[in-house]
Amino acid sequence: MTVLTSALDPSGTEYAERRAAMLAKLDEVAAEHAKALAGGGEKYLARHRKRGKLAARERIELLLDPDTPFLELSPLAGWGSDYAVGASLVTGIGVIEGVECLITANDPTVRGGASNPWTLKKALRANEIAYANRLPVVSLVESGGADLPSQKEIFIPGGALFRDLTRLSAAGIPTVAVVFGNSTAGGAYVPGMSDHVIMVKERAKVFLGGPPLVKMATGEESDDESLGGAEMHARTSGLADHFAVDEPDALRQARRVVARLNHRKAHPDPGPAAPPAYDEEELLGIVPGDLKTPFDPREVIARIVDGSDFDAFKPLYGTSLTTGWARLHGYPVGILANARGVLFSAESQKAAQFIQLANQRDIPLLFLHNTTGYMVGKEYEQGGIIKHGAMMINAVANSRVPHLSVLMGASYGAGHYGMCGRAYDPRFLFAWPSAKSAVMGPQQLAGVLSLVARASAAAKGQPYDEDGDAALRAVVEQQIEAESLPVFLSGRLYDDGVIDPRDTRTVLGLCLSAVHTAPVEGARGGFGVFRM
Ligand code: COA
Repeated sequence: MTVLTSALDPSGTEYAERRAAMLAKLDEVAAEHAKALAGGGEKYLARHRKRGKLAARERIELLLDPDTPFLELSPLAGWGSDYAVGASLVTGIGVIEGVECLITANDPTVRGGASNPWTLKKALRANEIAYANRLPVVSLVESGGADLPSQKEIFIPGGALFRDLTRLSAAGIPTVAVVFGNSTAGGAYVPGMSDHVIMVKERAKVFLGGPPLVKMATGEESDDESLGGAEMHARTSGLADHFAVDEPDALRQARRVVARLNHRKAHPDPGPAAPPAYDEEELLGIVPGDLKTPFDPREVIARIVDGSDFDAFKPLYGTSLTTGWARLHGYPVGILANARGVLFSAESQKAAQFIQLANQRDIPLLFLHNTTGYMVGKEYEQGGIIKHGAMMINAVANSRVPHLSVLMGASYGAGHYGMCGRAYDPRFLFAWPSAKSAVMGPQQLAGVLSLVARASAAAKGQPYDEDGDAALRAVVEQQIEAESLPVFLSGRLYDDGVIDPRDTRTVLGLCLSAVHTAPVEGARGGFGVFRM
């Protein structure tokens, strides 16, 4: 074993400062999470309960095996938009009858559970996760369908929801719909496209058009029950495979359906693993409040991998990027972690080689971000930094082993891409509250804008407005800073959630387990042309 040593001093002032800064940020994130948990607020929740209904998260809790974790995804979806935080939908991974499933649950207390543009993005992301990792999908349905005022944003792309359900089914990934209430118009295709359908007596309303619409269209008089009730669908139309007398019965039946799926994981659970040799609590005191100060990612690795056991790859070469092999909850991982922010040519080539090795060995990759991007300047351009950065991006883009990304600190510029940012399809991507991501740092961006404006004025022979420039720089800096923050980016679904650093090992363990439901097979070739 090669157990990492630690230079962290948990009794020192530096540690205390960093920890305090991280805890303050965690409090801010917790306040936003609380908004998602509150859903539509007390008034709508009370009305919902008065109707004898369970809240979305209570339905999930009854569905899951007792005392098993639920890895909630994208809880901050819609943050900073006109819509409620959480986007009227709960998604996540949980265990039902021993089977890891992707679960979605409409939150009917938020505008009738109607889907707005962020709900759609969140639902499509959940489907993507289910597809890539071969996780059965269980949809807990009760929704007013499309959020009508924003229909232009969702009607056309929203068709992908139903396309995904049938593509999952075609790929042999089971889909189960449990209908607790309204599931009308387009929403009727959620049960319509699912492999297994359960409906709740006197509650489910599954029809293409409700009574008023039918009256308008054909003049026919009808009622909810005869058009789309559970009893009608169970006895007459055959859309419901299972008739449930109430909500707990529906959830019990959903568990029985999952128990009979015969869904098998491609790779067995590796069994118990040794915890890290260092306390996970100390992950709070590693990232500096000012991201310009570098930190050693081995302090993080030592607190997340099994036994803190890490075999570095090329430790003396390209030292701004730490690479090496470890296990996490028993699963093998190759880790790439930024050590001093900037990626030079050597780091890029080392990364490209390391990624190819992981593919040859079928080992998932973990990217720990703290990068300001690839090095700029005459010396580096002449040394071929574009070619070398391109090698790393080529390797990341064409790698076929599962990738997990965690944004710990900075994740700027093309460094975000090379380290498997969102556009490079990591299976999961999480951010710590300390993370920041943008095309470049706020000061740098404001400075570049100012230099460009100054040059433009000079070219036109105009005097430069220095006061205006200072004001603009301040505004731009503030704007870019706000747009770099994890809560903002999470709101736009650019990650799968903002996590407490102390939960990193647990979250990654859950992800690795989910990932191993599908076969883990690296690329044995199939990379683009590596420019030498
Ligand atoms: N788009 C936008 N807002 C919607 C909505 C939708 N599809 N469905 C419901 N809402 C809003 C309501 O206007 C109401 O807003 P308010 O509280 O500010 O008045 C809030 O959500 C709660 O709706 P309410 O009707 O009071 O809740 P309910 O639980 O009694 O009924 C529904 C829920 C979904 C059955 C009912 O609202 C409904 O039929 N909505 C329209 C469904 C539809 O036809 N959708 C189009 C499908 S493509």
